[in-house]
Amino acid sequence: MPLKVLRGDITKVQVDAIVNAANKTLLGGGGVDGAIHRTAGPELLEECRTLGGCETGQAKITKGYRLPAKHVIHTVGPVWHGGKNNEEKLLTDCYNNSLALAKEHNLKSIAFPFISAGAYGYPKEQALKVAISTIKHFLEENEMEVYLVLFDEATFSMAEKMLK
Ligand code: AR6
Repeated sequence: MPLKVLRGDITKVQVDAIVNAANKTLLGGGGVDGAIHRTAGPELLEECRTLGGCETGQAKITKGYRLPAKHVIHTVGPVWHGGKNNEEKLLTDCYNNSLALAKEHNLKSIAFPFISAGAYGYPKEQALKVAISTIKHFLEENEMEVYLVLFDEATFSMAEKMLK
């Protein structure tokens, strides 16, 4: 199935795993991370405490608790520092490592938020190119339902244009 772009709240998406744009502590934060922890409930934070954090570009999996999604894959996007600090490679790693983890756990469907494009300041158009090309590349060789869930209308229409 080709990549599908959705507009809305990722905490409402019923898939095998939603991806969280977390920080290295994996102990919660604002943005999509805050929304996921609020919806999943305190058990998610409890499990996250056992994980020992996560490096930028890497990914770790937990259960989804009160979310409609069965699992949460927590990944840590790069903070944008101008583009010469390995940001593109690290953001590509976030998508690839999350997809690899989903595959390893035999998951059939996964939904990504727009990693690094909020508090971490990655320019939206460039972040979208990385997201779309990395996911498409994975789907050339793998069978999985993959969604990119975008919160705002402007980003959503940018993505629709890019997919055409
Ligand atoms: N569903 C889908 N997308 C959302 C939702 C939602 N419920 N809420 C926000 N977004 P950000 P980052 C979009 O800042 O840039 C946290 O504090 C939002 O519009 O959540 O990777 C972490 O703990 C934006 O397009 O993630 C880290 O410290 C996108 O999600 C830091 O922020 C990502 O924005 C990570 O920053």
